[in-house]
Amino acid sequence: MSKLWGGRFTKETNKLVEEFTASIQFDQKLALEDIEGSLAHVEMLGSCGIIHEDDVETIKKGLLTIKEKMNAGEVEFSIKDEDIHMNIERLLIEEIGPVGGKLHTGRSRNDQVATDMHLYLFKKTKEIIHMLKSVQKAIVKQAKEHIETVMPGYTHLQRAQPISLGHHLLAYFWMFERDKERLHDSLKRINWSPLGAGALAGTTFPIDRNLTASLLGFDTVYPNSLDAVSDRDFILEFLSISSILMTHISRLSEELVLWSSQEFEFIELDDSFCTGSSIMPQKKNPDVPELLRGKTGRVYGNLIGLLTVLKGLPLAYNKDLQEDKEGMFDTVETLTGSLKLLAPMIETMTVNKEKMYQAVRQDYSNATDLADYLVNKGLPFRQAHEIIGKIVLYAIEKNKYLLDLTFKEYKQFCDLFEEDIYAVLTPKHVVEARNSYGGTAFSQVELQLKLAESKLKD
Ligand code: ARG
Repeated sequence: MSKLWGGRFTKETNKLVEEFTASIQFDQKLALEDIEGSLAHVEMLGSCGIIHEDDVETIKKGLLTIKEKMNAGEVEFSIKDEDIHMNIERLLIEEIGPVGGKLHTGRSRNDQVATDMHLYLFKKTKEIIHMLKSVQKAIVKQAKEHIETVMPGYTHLQRAQPISLGHHLLAYFWMFERDKERLHDSLKRINWSPLGAGALAGTTFPIDRNLTASLLGFDTVYPNSLDAVSDRDFILEFLSISSILMTHISRLSEELVLWSSQEFEFIELDDSFCTGSSIMPQKKNPDVPELLRGKTGRVYGNLIGLLTVLKGLPLAYNKDLQEDKEGMFDTVETLTGSLKLLAPMIETMTVNKEKMYQAVRQDYSNATDLADYLVNKGLPFRQAHEIIGKIVLYAIEKNKYLLDLTFKEYKQFCDLFEEDIYAVLTPKHVVEARNSYGGTAFSQVELQLKLAESKLKD
């Protein structure tokens, strides 16, 4: 079997070279996009009078037959034909005869592969946006149920101030909202058509790039053919947005791992999302959030990998660019796999409200409120801070929490205290008191939920 580009060669390709340079093992994932691109290209060739309409029809039919056969699993790709583009061209010629060779008129694999990647990523980005929405819905659902569930809020992983669990969960809603926004924004750059740029400099045929672009649903065409065939910014952008998104997934996963530990016992992940240990019968391991946290590594790796491939590449196409694919596929698959699990895992987790409340009851996270109390009585905040610091130290020595100190004990530290301090110190009151916009007060969380829900309607 001779190569499609074999004319200039007198020797067979070295087997190892064939294996080393082939991409068909992975770029067959672009098969549908490749056919879609070819259908538009051949349609344009016909409409511009570059090839005869009869040939256009024959080629289109041939391409559709290959697509059907592919869907039926009847197509076998060969490493001899290097990549998906030449495999499909070979299949086409086998299917319809030499006329199939007209398809590649006015086109190069360089603009062809770039077109396939644009089409693929456009589709996948939209899918990922959709999946992110499902995760956000699961978060909203849990947050709604836990507006008034009080838990410790942390800084430095030390109990800081009590907060609403709904408020905590919604923080992730906004991270994912920004991810969605970034993905959305990237669509307008993914949606440029490189088709018609040729190998690097355009083509001698009177093609119509706008026609292929509009047939394929692109918004616009690359104005520079060199840029069109060598640009991989749209993939870099996808990989960096994905890295930020995985960071969010990883942070959330870390909290779920912590919270489901025996040290916290704040939540329980559904049995169907956990696994057991082969040796310790008592174990229920949070494998899913652990693996989500772990998979973040490969997503970062794919970004750094492609950045490194592109750094220092001269214009225009270089074979190095073939290295853009596996990382992109891997990130797409890692993300879709992760998001698919994340939504139902959040939705099915149960919350141990009592344990959360006890954690808040047994700490000093209401100390700020005691200081604010004195400020409201006219004391400068610095002075109040000093007094409360002393009270906390005293309480720790006595092995008591702030709610357990007697009124007499309070009076020893400051004369401004009145009996109403106990109401101020209850966890619910402490949460309710943070009523500034975006704060944790239940009414603020309700407001936030409304805003979140309105975002999901967009
Ligand atoms: N398989 C190649 C890639 O993925 C397609 C483009 C090949 N172009 C070339 N001039 N060798 O980049």
